Amino acid sequence: MASETFHAAVAVATLCAAAMLAAGAVASPEEGCRKHVAKVTEYGAVGDGKRLNTAAFAKAVADLSKHAGDGGAALVVPRGRWLTGPFNLTSHFTLFLDEGAEILASQDMDDWPLIAPLPSYGRGRDAPGPRYSNFISGSNLTDVIITGRNGTIDGQGQVWWDKYRAKELKYTRGYLLELLYSDNILIYNVTFKDSPSWNLHPTYCTNVTISGVTILAPVHSANTDGIDPDSSSHVKIEDCYIVSGDDCVAVKSGWDQYGIEFNMPSQHILIRRLTCISPTSAMIALGSEMSGGIRDVRAEDNTAIDTESAVRVKSGVGRGGFVKDIFVRGLSLHTMKWVFWMTGNYGQHPDNSSNPNALPEVTNINYSDVFAENVTMAGRMEGIPNDPYTGICISNVTANLAPHAKKLQWNCTDVKGVTSDVMPEPCPELRGEEGKSCAFPEDELAIGPAELPKCSYYYY
Ligand SMILES: *[C@@H]1O[C@H](CO)[C@@H](O)[C@H](O)[C@H]1NC(C)=O
Ligand SMILES: *[C@@H]1O[C@H](CO)[C@@H](O)[C@H](O)[C@H]1NC(C)=O
Ligand SMILES: *[C@@H]1O[C@H](CO)[C@@H](O)[C@H](O)[C@H]1NC(C)=O
Ligand SMILES: *[C@@H]1O[C@H](CO)[C@@H](O)[C@H](O)[C@H]1NC(C)=O
Ligand SMILES: *[C@@H]1O[C@H](CO)[C@@H](O)[C@H](O)[C@H]1NC(C)=O
Ligand SMILES: *[C@@H]1O[C@H](CO)[C@@H](O)[C@H](O)[C@H]1NC(C)=O
Ligand SMILES: *[C@@H]1O[C@H](CO)[C@@H](O)[C@H](O)[C@H]1NC(C)=O
Ligand SMILES: *[C@@H]1O[C@H](CO)[C@@H](O)[C@H](O)[C@H]1NC(C)=O
Ligand SMILES: *[C@@H]1O[C@H](CO)[C@@H](O)[C@H](O)[C@H]1NC(C)=O
Ligand SMILES: *[C@@H]1O[C@H](CO)[C@@H](O)[C@H](O)[C@H]1NC(C)=O
Repeated sequence: MASETFHAAVAVATLCAAAMLAAGAVASPEEGCRKHVAKVTEYGAVGDGKRLNTAAFAKAVADLSKHAGDGGAALVVPRGRWLTGPFNLTSHFTLFLDEGAEILASQDMDDWPLIAPLPSYGRGRDAPGPRYSNFISGSNLTDVIITGRNGTIDGQGQVWWDKYRAKELKYTRGYLLELLYSDNILIYNVTFKDSPSWNLHPTYCTNVTISGVTILAPVHSANTDGIDPDSSSHVKIEDCYIVSGDDCVAVKSGWDQYGIEFNMPSQHILIRRLTCISPTSAMIALGSEMSGGIRDVRAEDNTAIDTESAVRVKSGVGRGGFVKDIFVRGLSLHTMKWVFWMTGNYGQHPDNSSNPNALPEVTNINYSDVFAENVTMAGRMEGIPNDPYTGICISNVTANLAPHAKKLQWNCTDVKGVTSDVMPEPCPELRGEEGKSCAFPEDELAIGPAELPKCSYYYY
């Protein structure tokens, strides 16, 4: 051990001991621990599932934010049921949920303030105008970690789904976690549950790692997307397990003319070893909001069980932008309606000012090494008339059909590309090219934070 490192470790150990005496919670002195640690109970929180702890969370974060320039701080949420309204995070900060810790979102809409819509969307996604706050938010942050011993952040979304479906909501539902303009975000070993709408929404962010995260929502809940990287780059999603009523992962980049104007793509995104269950949606969607562009998405070794489609492109006239340089290698699919699905008429526009000449460019979409079983239809490939989806490459695919599979296995319109070693036999628009193996980049994407910190927080 270099002597500087040794002294640093001793210093951390000493400060952690000081924090223990002060706070009753302590960081083990491995590298990566925050210098300051506090329990949410020190700010008056009560974990009985009834008492509303909004003020305690706000006070804790405000107080701990003072340490941002001095080794950062961790807020420990112990075992218990901690009911709260929405709250914000801060920089150089760890939210640590111990085993058995559950942060429960208030179901009282009066606890949810209104916030401005995203500039790249121009309005709320469910309704025009402002939107309800997200449950947990952060803007312009750096170095944020959400982790622990697999505690749960529970959006208690049933009331929101019911009201949304009954058209009783005047404003757009909040997301469970939304981070804006932030970098160096790490989310691991934590469970997110029953979001009112989308679960994790990193937007205008860079260097986001989401690892070993569980996301659960009833498969018929409304718009409970798992992870939606939006106008964000260098995002890694790995070893996650998602059960959802909407797309497990949806890469996005703004909506029609607002997204075109904002012009911030989602790019350099790696999604690997995902397990997805979503009977009415995709394992990975690209779009439908893609007006700032989506490029360089790499999906590797992903599994879907009882999911509607695998890696789906969703776009339409008015979106503009692009979806290109998409690489998918290794899909294991069990019970699937459409193994390959591309959509060119997705619809859903923010208002009547979408530009009918804003045609998306969809090109260079490569898939290889796909095994699927109990499939209803191999390919439903619909590009845009006069704006075909091109450069599609599909190789080494075996799709075993369901007992009640469609007679027509591929239906292709306004798409162009090549296929090799694909069963069942593809449509003529995807011309056979024997021996072709579709590309997957060999270089590694450099996505920070590079390593998961070994730090853990415990009690005496
Ligand atoms: C969170 O911070 C934003 C500003 O970035 C503010 O508008 C919002 O009211 C804050 N939310 C809460 C719950 O404090
Ligand atoms: C966050 O950063 C964005 C982009 O740089 C900027 O427009 C915005 O004003 C910042 N917001 C806050 C609350 O500092
Ligand atoms: C994740 O949480 C589980 C459950 O408490 C725990 O056993 C495990 O050590 C944690 N893993 C990491 C990498 O922190
Ligand atoms: C975390 O908890 C979820 C929900 O209880 C469970 O499905 C998952 O396997 C757990 N993950 C770890 C790493 O313990
Ligand atoms: C859009 O156009 C339709 C039909 O012309 C009209 O009913 C609707 O009110 C318009 N919506 C907006 C937001 O202007
Ligand atoms: C074809 O894909 C399967 C997975 O479905 C894989 O096991 C196999 O190695 C691939 N074959 C070639 C030649 O790459
Ligand atoms: C096959 O898929 C059908 C739906 O198309 C489903 O009802 C059935 O349970 C699946 N069978 C197996 C063995 O998973
Ligand atoms: C992806 O496939 C398309 C269509 O075959 C091809 O033009 C393109 O070169 C492939 N991408 C790469 C990076 O090889
Ligand atoms: C094939 O797709 C086209 C374009 O979406 C659609 O109009 C047509 O009905 C489909 N054909 C069949 C047999 O499903
Ligand atoms: C993102 O992480 C990479 C790899 O660690 C690093 O080189 C880069 O500077 C980081 N970018 C930002 C904006 O933090």
